[in-house]
Amino acid sequence: MSPEVKALTEDDVRPHLPAGLIPWDVRAFGSVGSTNDVARRLASSGEPEGTVVVAGSQSAGRGRRGAEWFSPPGGLWLSMVLRPEVPLERAWGLSIVGAVAVASAVRRSCELPGRIKWPNDVFVSGRKLAGVMVESAGDGAFILGVGVNANVRHEDLPRNRWYEATSVMVERGEACSRSELFGRLLAETESRYSLFTGSDQRSLTDEWRSLSLVFGERVRVERGGELLEGTVFGLEEDGAVVLRLLDGRQERVLPSGDVTLMVL
Ligand code: BTN
Repeated sequence: MSPEVKALTEDDVRPHLPAGLIPWDVRAFGSVGSTNDVARRLASSGEPEGTVVVAGSQSAGRGRRGAEWFSPPGGLWLSMVLRPEVPLERAWGLSIVGAVAVASAVRRSCELPGRIKWPNDVFVSGRKLAGVMVESAGDGAFILGVGVNANVRHEDLPRNRWYEATSVMVERGEACSRSELFGRLLAETESRYSLFTGSDQRSLTDEWRSLSLVFGERVRVERGGELLEGTVFGLEEDGAVVLRLLDGRQERVLPSGDVTLMVL
């Protein structure tokens, strides 16, 4: 077994933690059901902002819309406890924080051109490399869950009807340092988080737009049973994508409920 397939430990990641805005407190596990559930329990028992749960693998990892999230050894599976003092209706912005942070971390730490497919998936070369989800933990706490297929082998990547998946190892042809990627991800998260909680949400939205894979593209959106086809000409602060439909009408689609977008 290559050393990179071992679960990360607190000692592995400590030298890579940013000495910045959030006091990160890492809790590393070999295998858990879902790091989001562990982080939610910690948040409910009063653990502060900056508590991060990382696991070598997950037996019940989940994605958005209740989907299964395949989490074999070699990936980077983590959940952060955040306590932003913002109204609940703005919490969706944390997904933008996460997506921008992951795309930037992958760019800087792995030299891969990560782009964001609406709303918050990180893609490289047309394939999904990472996913982000936000869950409320009550009492003003949120869990930002991030899954990056770091050193997942090609044969261990998930297959589904929505997208093809890839990993850093597949794209680069060699393993990456998950500890370094982990540290970089926390550093990129805290800088975007300070834009989000401060008064500069606009530059965060601008960065999200500039990293977007869908801006200006012809897309098909499935919302509930409804099919929409058009060109993306807006990405807004509340996470909405704005389409110009084929008949010229405009339609705003929020990233909530049963909605998926496909680039045509
Ligand atoms: C998605 O693209 O649907 C979001 C995927 C989020 C997966 C991560 S892995 C760590 C954390 N724990 C989970 O159970 N899910 C998130």
